[in-house]
Amino acid sequence: MKILVTGGAGFIGSAVVRLAVARGHRVVNLDSLTYAANLENVASVSGSPLYAFEQADIRDRAALDRILAEHRPDAIMHLAAESHVDRSIDGPGAFIETNVTGTYNLLEAARAWWTAQGRPEGFRFHHISTDEVFGSLGETGQFTEDTPYDPRSPYSASKAASDHLVRAWHETYGLPVVLTNCSNNYGPFHFPEKLVPVVILNALHGRPIPVYGDGGNVRDWLYVEDHADALLLVLEKGRIGRSYNIGGENEARNIDLVRTICGHMDRLRPNAAPHDRLITFVTDRPGHDRRYAIDPGRVRSELGWRPSVTVEEGLRRTVEWYLANEDWWRPLLTRQGVGERLGKA
Ligand SMILES: NC(=O)c1ccc[n+]([C@@H]2O[C@H](COP(=O)([O-])OP(=O)(O)OC[C@H]3O[C@@H](n4cnc5c(N)ncnc54)[C@H](O)[C@@H]3O)[C@@H](O)[C@H]2O)c1
Repeated sequence: MKILVTGGAGFIGSAVVRLAVARGHRVVNLDSLTYAANLENVASVSGSPLYAFEQADIRDRAALDRILAEHRPDAIMHLAAESHVDRSIDGPGAFIETNVTGTYNLLEAARAWWTAQGRPEGFRFHHISTDEVFGSLGETGQFTEDTPYDPRSPYSASKAASDHLVRAWHETYGLPVVLTNCSNNYGPFHFPEKLVPVVILNALHGRPIPVYGDGGNVRDWLYVEDHADALLLVLEKGRIGRSYNIGGENEARNIDLVRTICGHMDRLRPNAAPHDRLITFVTDRPGHDRRYAIDPGRVRSELGWRPSVTVEEGLRRTVEWYLANEDWWRPLLTRQGVGERLGKA
């Protein structure tokens, strides 16, 4: 298959690019290279004859038309997005432009290309979204694919809007789409403004480890390479017009996740005092969703997919990766906003 991956220089997109190339697919990575991008994420495949890179913005329709005509993909996997909730609180405009208008643009470019090719049945537009579109859960319950949308941050509202557009393009124009909504990812190449890398790097540097609110917010943690595997499976085997929730089967409170990472740091980089002494509770994020949990029943029963990595194993691998890859993360610490408290509104 020839797959056009948008956002392939980001965290999850680059995992998809690396895995797709490893499996023998041809990949065109389309990315505008925002602050969150890093071409080092795909350095391991950039010399492959299966790989091509196009620096382009999904808001630029002419660029999308040119790239589709030139590369003639069999499928589009759409991951390009503004993705950080805290940044969406400080500056929602970029989230509307990229996540909503950019997705609209990509859908229209894809529809024009697909129509010009005679509407091939095998073509796929795979939209990658988040469980945050479903809002916040109480102590119990899980999100299914039928849970009503209830987004509560500018980020999740923009992703919800993009999901609705994708479904509408299927229902109205017949575009062969699949959608996935996944839980929080973590793993290698995670940009150092997100919780897991922030904890590892602050622990390493002996700096306070910020935990929002009371640390009781619950997320379902998914190892990024498991996610990439699930995405390629849905692309190949998912039913057209259908969405699939993808979770890690690893629910954890933020504070417990942070303590687990500190435990790995104690073992790998022992200090006189345990690293969890650095934990510092800070003002909560406004509108901070309390709990997300995924019911992965559909992807498991229809496609036979389950995550392969437990959160304990995945965190161990991730901490070891950050400790071994300072050359990767060090230059990112000077990017705009990194290390600052964002999203206090
Ligand atoms: N990280 C998570 O835990 C998570 C969970 C669920 C869903 N998602 C979704 O998965 C996708 C990828 O997330 P991520 O964490 O890898 O994000 P990321 O921020 O690491 O990467 C996003 C990539 O998109 C590119 N991009 C942004 N705006 C663009 C534009 N206008 N045109 C072209 N490229 C642009 C960036 O340069 C970057 O390389 C997003 O759609 C996100 O909503 C992420």
